Amino acid sequence: MDITSENAVVSYSPGAEASIAYIPTPLTGHPALMGFHRHLLADTVRTEAFIQAIECVVRPGQVVVDLGSGSGILALACARAGAARVYAIESDSLIFLAQQAAQANGLAERIIFIHQDSRRADLPEKVDVIVSECLGLMGLGGTMVPAVVDLARRYLKPDGRLIPQAITLFIAPVESPLHYEYVHVWEQGRFYGFDLATFQKTASNNLYIARFRPESFLSRPQQVAAVQLLTANVTEVSARLNFAPTRSGRLHGFCGWFEASLADGVTLSASPLAPPTIWRQLYLPLEKELPVATDSLIQLNFGLNLGLRLAGEPGFFRWCTEVTCPSRPAETMSLKQITLKSIPRKVETVHACHSERSEESLKTNSKQNFIEQNYFCDSK
Ligand SMILES: C[S@@+](CC[C@H](N)C(=O)[O-])C[C@H]1O[C@@H](n2cnc3c(N)ncnc32)[C@H](O)[C@@H]1O
Repeated sequence: MDITSENAVVSYSPGAEASIAYIPTPLTGHPALMGFHRHLLADTVRTEAFIQAIECVVRPGQVVVDLGSGSGILALACARAGAARVYAIESDSLIFLAQQAAQANGLAERIIFIHQDSRRADLPEKVDVIVSECLGLMGLGGTMVPAVVDLARRYLKPDGRLIPQAITLFIAPVESPLHYEYVHVWEQGRFYGFDLATFQKTASNNLYIARFRPESFLSRPQQVAAVQLLTANVTEVSARLNFAPTRSGRLHGFCGWFEASLADGVTLSASPLAPPTIWRQLYLPLEKELPVATDSLIQLNFGLNLGLRLAGEPGFFRWCTEVTCPSRPAETMSLKQITLKSIPRKVETVHACHSERSEESLKTNSKQNFIEQNYFCDSK
């Protein structure tokens, strides 16, 4: 991710951004360090919360894993907190730079760098603590949380500790013309004389990282789920939520975020009410804005599936919305959305001289139909 004035959490000296920017290409420098990890380290809310949790949890002499070590910052913090050994596991070649940093800080003897995907890593001993900055979209989205759970099941001592220990997900319905119009740009106009409204379905069934203000909320936020990483199913979350609007307006979608419990008394929040972090919030846009009144009811059937149950199964976010009004039942409006809808279908090419319905496109489209029917707004 590039750092811009829009997404930077720590600001650089005035004018720096206008004068210099990293070009994210494998041809120059180390893209992961120069872009993504620089961005992570610039987030002091995130990084200090993790270091604080490490200082609370890691005891001198303990054995620790830093899963997804990246720049090595958390492995360094574990060694500084007194860990006897830290296994820093990282699949990216950035690990070799992290190793140099450990040497430069005089901590190389206590950090063992393992350049591997954690799911294939073998450790020579059980560990007291696993720390991982594994937080993805709404905390759980992505593959890192299941990787942490996998490693914990294999190597964490029965009384071992995990950082983070739990993730709580929240959602609020929002009115925000700014975010809605950004997503709906495709159907709003013509591009150089061409109609690109066919892109709209993909855009509307996508997820956006966005910054929201609480003034955008149409109702009080609700908790979607509270997931204890060691004991819960971390690959699938679903919830049916009812929101009573606190004001009338136009429903433009939902704002989602997480709070991670890193250690007892140490919480990292990506709420719009908390100091900004790299995660900002997640915007789940609506395909169409829906009017709401104070006597309406906004019902949301939310699902997050990491797609890890069966090989080849796609992951998805699903948000099915219904706005009802008891006094006007005929005016019920509903929208069924899922990120799987954003995957473009193959177009059957029909030329004047021949029509082609390729085997491949039939297979792709029927697989997609199957997925949409089976994962859509089930009764869960
Ligand atoms: C969000 S970064 C965190 C980096 C660092 N711990 C920090 O807090 O700044 C996650 C890192 O985990 C690595 N990663 C993700 N999944 C992994 C896995 N299963 N095994 C090893 N590394 C992984 C990525 O390459 C990335 O560098």
